[in-house]
Amino acid sequence: MLRDLFIGLSENQLLNRAARNYGLQLGAQQVVAGTNITEMMDSVKELNQAGIACTIDNLGEFVYDKSEAIRAKEQILAVVKAIHEQQADAHISLKPSQLGLDIDYEFCREQIKEIAEKASRDDIFVNLDMENYPRLEPTFRLVNELSEEGYTNIGTVIQAYFHRALKDTRAYRDMRMRLVKGAYKESPAVAYQKKQEIDENFIRIIEWHLLHGKFTSIATHDDRIIDHVKRFAAEHDIERDQFEFQMLYGFRKDLQLALAKEGYRFCTYVPFGEDWYGYFMRRLAERPQNMNLMVKQVFNK
Ligand code: FDA
Repeated sequence: MLRDLFIGLSENQLLNRAARNYGLQLGAQQVVAGTNITEMMDSVKELNQAGIACTIDNLGEFVYDKSEAIRAKEQILAVVKAIHEQQADAHISLKPSQLGLDIDYEFCREQIKEIAEKASRDDIFVNLDMENYPRLEPTFRLVNELSEEGYTNIGTVIQAYFHRALKDTRAYRDMRMRLVKGAYKESPAVAYQKKQEIDENFIRIIEWHLLHGKFTSIATHDDRIIDHVKRFAAEHDIERDQFEFQMLYGFRKDLQLALAKEGYRFCTYVPFGEDWYGYFMRRLAERPQNMNLMVKQVFNK
């Protein structure tokens, strides 16, 4: 119930727009690394100093206006430039819907291609985040077409809640892939609904990709999954540079540092920007305990 409520709120266009005018509110500043590049890069540098790499998301999604999509591309190009100039250990995460996927596929592809081109010159990886089910095929198509054009610095995400996840994992074995449980509300026709089924499928795709994939990013805050991966990698002699753990900025900070200290590759997903609202609501949907952030913030004013 609460999950559906927060997912509904995350997709509310009016609230998304209104939130832009108010800066980071409701505790969002604990999970969003500022509203501009300078603030965000300060956090990236701090994480890098602790041995943690970063993937940077210039927040924004569900863009239906070309000029807004072009502005988003310019902002992402500015992030690529900042990573290069500051020699940060960081790469890009972007959402196709922010770059115009819902406006015009070809337009979106050209926008992402421009980012991939600039990033590849500086040896910076670009991950296409996976959004909800209607955007799954178009996102795979973008990834396929860009890699056919020779871009090797492109990857995407497999969401374990989909019945088709293992098949997709096999199809993309040669690509750097992020594996997640999945954050959106999806129909039982295409996605597992029960936590246990999702977790089992998650383990299945992680194991397959660790054994056969190019490079695996395991993005989760779940101790059970993390412990399983550690054991599985040790039992199967999987080198530590073949995979990394990923978590979101501001979540389980102690565990992030501990994994990096233990010698595992670690990458923090660092979101920033004025469009923080939809991202923040989805984090509340995933874990209503995150409401604590919000309540504390409201009462500490
Ligand atoms: P889940 O929420 O299932 O929790 C399992 C258990 O982990 C909990 O019971 C608790 O024990 C522990 N736990 C979880 N969070 C905790 C916390 N904050 N503190 C303490 N314990 C905690 N989704 C998507 O659809 N497309 C995408 O592109 C991405 N990208 C992405 C990148 C990165 C880096 C991450 C970490 C996640 C995503 N996601 C995503 C989101 C993902 O699909 C998923 O919704 C969330 O990660 C939540 O699932 P978890 O596996 O983290 O644990």
